[in-house]
Amino acid sequence: MEEGQVFPMNSGAGKASYANNSLLQKTVISKVRATVEDSALEVYFKTSPESMRIADLGCSSGPTALSVASYILDAILFQLKQMNQKKPLTLQVFLNDLPGNDFNTVFQSLSSFYERLKKKKKNDPICFVMAVPGSFYGRLFPNNSMHFIHSSYSLHYLSKAPNGLVSETGVTHNKGNIYITKTSPDVVVKTYLRQFEEDFTVFLRCRSEEMVIGGCMVLTMMGSAISNDPKHMLEIVGRVLNDLVSQVCGTITHLFSFVIYFHINIAKIIFGIIEEKSVDNFNVPAYCPTEKEARKVIEEDGSFRLQKLEVFQLPWDAGFNESKGKNDINNKYDRGKYISDYIRAVLEPILMKQFGESLIIDDFFERFTQKIIESIANENWHYVNLVISLTKN
Ligand SMILES: C[S@@+](CC[C@H](N)C(=O)[O-])C[C@H]1O[C@@H](n2cnc3c(N)ncnc32)[C@H](O)[C@@H]1O
Repeated sequence: MEEGQVFPMNSGAGKASYANNSLLQKTVISKVRATVEDSALEVYFKTSPESMRIADLGCSSGPTALSVASYILDAILFQLKQMNQKKPLTLQVFLNDLPGNDFNTVFQSLSSFYERLKKKKKNDPICFVMAVPGSFYGRLFPNNSMHFIHSSYSLHYLSKAPNGLVSETGVTHNKGNIYITKTSPDVVVKTYLRQFEEDFTVFLRCRSEEMVIGGCMVLTMMGSAISNDPKHMLEIVGRVLNDLVSQVCGTITHLFSFVIYFHINIAKIIFGIIEEKSVDNFNVPAYCPTEKEARKVIEEDGSFRLQKLEVFQLPWDAGFNESKGKNDINNKYDRGKYISDYIRAVLEPILMKQFGESLIIDDFFERFTQKIIESIANENWHYVNLVISLTKN
């Protein structure tokens, strides 16, 4: 997968969209709310900007895109009221994501966002929202212009799948896996880590040029407890892909042992066959660092002071109860389907790109739901989240 080929989430506001399947991410952002508010208040009262410029990097196309702007606005207005200050407040909110992101769905929610603001602050125009398409592994804003930057569940995406996962003689190092699992050899772990270190360093350098001195960042990313066995959801995705490869190989052997090349292609379409080599060559461009790995990059770069690095865990089905009526919450299938649906909203575009029409997507996610139900019952899986608060030196 080449540079820049990280795929945005499922667009629109339909059943399979990110907008409709991001309660997990909403839960994550709400857990970090106090940290966001504290940092934003600190910058606001220390730098007293006429217009406070804040950004959400990797905002995607769901309701979470505007959550942090709302939190910050409420926190500052509340604080000004407590202090009996009549100072006017203006926020410029920059929503960033890759150019392929469905910004239109976010824009469509703006009128209700502005309506809510009007109720809080009469008719004062206090918040101006704009989009900044581009990769956060490059410059996005002018020098010394930003006061507060937030990013949630986006920075574990790498700029590309790391080079070096295939040897010079063409041997695939991470055979059978699409991400690091406990069966991945050391070279795979090191190659992924190197790409993360490179990308995160570029990210910090770019932001340090863009931020005012004293500006703050709060970055939440998926992390790992240990690097060579991250126990990541992608392991389950890999298991389903491998089931499809082996099951279909069996089917072909039984039904088409006599076939010629032409028949194999027909069979691919009928059975949704995916080839072993397309699984072997698929390496998801993401890395979930440990606390130590993230800390090392920040310290070596040196442009930001690390205020806090917290780790918290969430079950895979975080947000499920909010999505369901009280009567349904014990239904195992619904719980598995909830998880499968939000993974689909995130992974469908990249899976379709990798496997094309040979992957029958509804069938894939039905199998994935079953695997999730089994995994929840038999293994202890959860998300490890790193919350990093930084101040520009
Ligand atoms: C799982 S979504 C998280 C969205 C949102 N922050 C939330 O918490 O709901 C990850 C987002 O990061 C974006 N992303 C990935 N790599 C990026 C990059 N290099 N630059 C900008 N956005 C990126 C993806 O397009 C996607 O929309």
